[in-house]
Amino acid sequence: MDIPQERKVVTEIPGPKSREWFERRKAAVPQAVFNIHPIVTARASGAIIEDVDGNRLIDFATGISVLNVGHTPPEVVRAAQEQLERDTHTCFHVTANEPYIELAERLNALAPGDFEKKTMFANSGAEAVENAVKIARKFTGRQAIVTFDHAFHGRTLLAMSLTAKSMPYKQGMGPFAPEIYRLPFAYPYRWPTGPENAAREALAYARDEMHKVIGEENIAAVIVEPVQGEGGFVFPAPGFLKGLAEICAEHGILFIADEIQSGMGRAGRWFAIEDEDVVPDLITSAKSLGGGLPISAVTGRADAMDSVHVGGLGGTYGGNPVAAAASLAVLDQIERENLLERSRTLGDRVLSRLHEMQERHPVIGDVRGRAMMTAMELVKDRQSKEPLDAESGNAIVRTCLENGVVILKAGTYDNVIRLLPPLTIEESLLDEGLNVLDEAIGSVG
Ligand SMILES: Cc1ncc(COP(=O)(O)O)c(C=O)c1O
Repeated sequence: MDIPQERKVVTEIPGPKSREWFERRKAAVPQAVFNIHPIVTARASGAIIEDVDGNRLIDFATGISVLNVGHTPPEVVRAAQEQLERDTHTCFHVTANEPYIELAERLNALAPGDFEKKTMFANSGAEAVENAVKIARKFTGRQAIVTFDHAFHGRTLLAMSLTAKSMPYKQGMGPFAPEIYRLPFAYPYRWPTGPENAAREALAYARDEMHKVIGEENIAAVIVEPVQGEGGFVFPAPGFLKGLAEICAEHGILFIADEIQSGMGRAGRWFAIEDEDVVPDLITSAKSLGGGLPISAVTGRADAMDSVHVGGLGGTYGGNPVAAAASLAVLDQIERENLLERSRTLGDRVLSRLHEMQERHPVIGDVRGRAMMTAMELVKDRQSKEPLDAESGNAIVRTCLENGVVILKAGTYDNVIRLLPPLTIEESLLDEGLNVLDEAIGSVG
């Protein structure tokens, strides 16, 4: 499906048809399954979502970082269609399928580390996280898992327990999974004694806590997002991840990099951890791996992956052949179109624009990013760094939508605007979307 790559607002947004659907949605779907934007998609292609009222919106959200290769790219659609006609599902545990094995081989080759690797597949990011923890526990014979402030790892019981933020993810849903220990994340902008001290002080605290409170010999794994996603696109202070990896190596603790949001070119590499001089033991992927089809993966050291007995990992749909075939086409597209490099080039363009906006809008406290994983943190006052209230941030998001740009917030304090356009977006459309955002901030500012 080809939709002209243009922004076109033809009704007020939400338009009448979206509003009508939302009345039905209200009666049929629980409120907990939230909607950020009160519009209904009719179709999508490239960087454009067309809603049921015929509005064409520039997509800076990409289904929360799922469409790095853009909406409905022809090769991915074709690969999925061809697989659909051949075989939709036999369950890998019953009879194996080719795309599963081939995709495992591709991810093993792409993941950092010049050692033997293996990959297993599941359906969602949370499931990949659950499996990575199971593998780490089985391999080490230990139980404790270290996670961080501002972390997001999903919504299933274990993944929710690893996630930091109470509201909305955990509120009223305990008791949580045991043997989870949370440490401070070296968040430069909000580190109390200044960004220059963040890595050193956070590492010293981690070392102490892991020794005194948890006991290193009890820790199976440290799980960390190389760039925190839902927590607010937080790039840890330089050296923090490397220091953590060193502690892990010293004590036989597995280092799990959760690349579900930061991987597949979003941060300019296949995996964001590649820029940190760290080789993880296990990596979780999902989101942009499947280009819109649900699939997730755990890739890791063969000795750890093979430590689990036969039948100890799996699930009915894991590595479904249609999703796996689409994923292979996604990897092909990233390679063919040099999207890692394009992510870095476009990201520089976005970052310089955001820095320029920061000079004009006092509400922008911090601008940060690497490649096409960029964000700005909004504050009431730059001196105190008090987060901007959620309502003002929501007004920016709403104004963008009314003017044909789909945008997302993030952050523990719900005050970060994160930008997730497809890596394939045309420069002119990217600039146009940023102009709309600029004006929206000005109007609320
Ligand atoms: C870093 C990270 N881990 C895990 C998840 C959970 O993925 P899913 O929503 O597919 O379960 C997410 C989702 O946003 C994520 O960003």
